[in-house]
Amino acid sequence: MGNIRILPSLIAERIAAGEVVERPASVVKELCENAIDAGASAVEVRLAKGGTELIEVTDNGSGMPREDLEVCIGRHATSKIREFEDLSRLNTLGFRGEALPSIASVSELSVVSRASGSTVTHEIRLAQSAAERVDARNVPNISFLGSAHGTRVRVASLFSQIPARLKFLKSIGAETSAVREIIERLALTHPEVAFTLKNEDRTLLELPAESLKDRTVRMLADDNPFEIVETELPGSYSIRVIWLKGLSLPHTRGMYQIVNGRALRDRTLQSAILNPLKQSFLPGNFPVCVVRIDLPTDELDVNVHPGKTEIRFLESRKIYALCDAAFERLLGRPAFRDAGPGPDPGFHPPQWNRESTPFLALNAETQAGTGPSTTPPAFFDSTPIGEYRGVWFATYLAFEKDDKITLIDQHAAHERVRYEQIKKGVLGKQGCETQQLLVPEVVKFPPDRLIRLRNKLDWVKPLGFDAEVFGEESVVFRAIPSVWGSGTLPERLRNLLERLENEDAGPEHPTWDEVLFEKIAMEACRSSFKAGDTIHEWSARDLVRKLFTCEHPGNCPHGRPTSITLSRNKVEEWFSRLS
Ligand SMILES: Nc1ncnc2c1ncn2[C@@H]1O[C@H](COP(=O)(O)OP(=O)(O)OP(=O)(O)O)[C@@H](O)[C@H]1O
Ligand SMILES: [Mg+2]
Repeated sequence: MGNIRILPSLIAERIAAGEVVERPASVVKELCENAIDAGASAVEVRLAKGGTELIEVTDNGSGMPREDLEVCIGRHATSKIREFEDLSRLNTLGFRGEALPSIASVSELSVVSRASGSTVTHEIRLAQSAAERVDARNVPNISFLGSAHGTRVRVASLFSQIPARLKFLKSIGAETSAVREIIERLALTHPEVAFTLKNEDRTLLELPAESLKDRTVRMLADDNPFEIVETELPGSYSIRVIWLKGLSLPHTRGMYQIVNGRALRDRTLQSAILNPLKQSFLPGNFPVCVVRIDLPTDELDVNVHPGKTEIRFLESRKIYALCDAAFERLLGRPAFRDAGPGPDPGFHPPQWNRESTPFLALNAETQAGTGPSTTPPAFFDSTPIGEYRGVWFATYLAFEKDDKITLIDQHAAHERVRYEQIKKGVLGKQGCETQQLLVPEVVKFPPDRLIRLRNKLDWVKPLGFDAEVFGEESVVFRAIPSVWGSGTLPERLRNLLERLENEDAGPEHPTWDEVLFEKIAMEACRSSFKAGDTIHEWSARDLVRKLFTCEHPGNCPHGRPTSITLSRNKVEEWFSRLS
């Protein structure tokens, strides 16, 4: 007798659900997307215990009539496409007809809805997919965020029947912040929708419907004293960028990508955004910006990732050209430069009026209606050691404050900043942010030594490395920690492998964290900014601000000084001005 069996449908569904429903945040994402697709202008998310006990999403969208309510939790039930070709003209976030049945198979689900124009409200309930078919029942009318029609979905006891999944959930606090991050992404994508997030009875987010610019300022700028610049290039491929110039983060979470109304974490787009900024950011540092691209729906494929967070562009070169054109403009560079893979000959990047202001500063002055300004307010320039006064010998950054000039060794300072960022990630237990590599890096390693390494690759996983043995004589790296930086990568990865190979203390060793940290930090430092590398003015200020928040700003990790100070007195003495 053969061994192959058809799985019972509940098991098959739970397995399939794993792709869509990973944690409370993924449930919230699906339910909010459904609300947006239903044309809601307000969405409220309520959580109990970070969503593990209860997630409730209410919207004032079009709602569902009884017949739709009865089928909406069935697999492949969707109102959004009719035939396969519809995928290429999609203007909704959902299309797979997978979200509700997947959620239903791992929780207790209830959907209450009233269609617009209807006078009755119905509810369906489903406990862990127990019933094949449910009958919607009449329930008393309720208000959907002040509207007569809308939908309220309740997801209780998520994963209570699936202990393996429960085990992977993080603390309530971490799950709550993951939900918050998802809502923030959706909120930037759809600023015309009001969003509220409550955990137990605490309101964590309250965003009124507003313009993209206002929402960006509210969410990203907050109290940050950084200059915000923006640009928009219209066309069949159009782009809008709002950028907090001058701020950088050691991870990519501040880069918001929106393509055709979809919040993404797409690697191609990320690399297209970073490409024109290569010269402007220190390695391992990333911008804070919102990049919104709209392109013809038949030039992208959204059906490549179960969570729909990655897409495939028909012509990624156009995306590179578009990002290039927008950021070149914001950087004030005069002409379009062909960078990255480059646009195809038939594609003309959007043009802009050279006469116009290169960027619009959304500072207090502009908001007061006095028109755009190209001069950032003085506080953008300030650092703990004063005003930036240029670079000496392509290595030493000069700052002036009161009667002192401070020279900063850019390499030593960057090493110190890097070192402490990594230390926080490794020893601070928040974990290290991972950067997926667009093209995996394959490092060759002698087969006899590879055997010793095989079990140790897992040791560096918590640091943000994704590495595995590949074939007989190489290791493939698919992801690295963000702060690690991408310069001289093959060489540093090989060094890491060699250090690991010779390491005998494993994760169970009491000082393992420190051992590992030293290895990672030393390798990361090697990709730091070097003497002679050109540094942009705002990067110089950013570096200095970060240096002075370090625990030990005075030295690089190898003990060399990061700064020296020259007093006015000393200079005046040289010129015999002091009598
Ligand atoms: N909040 C809502 N308001 C109105 N209709 C809804 C709502 N949520 C779900 N629906 C209806 O239920 C159907 C099934 O929803 P579900 O999320 O499972 O699939 P989908 O959105 O079509 O595709 P995907 O799996 O890609 O999200 C939707 O197509 C829609 O018609
Ligand atoms: Mg959906």
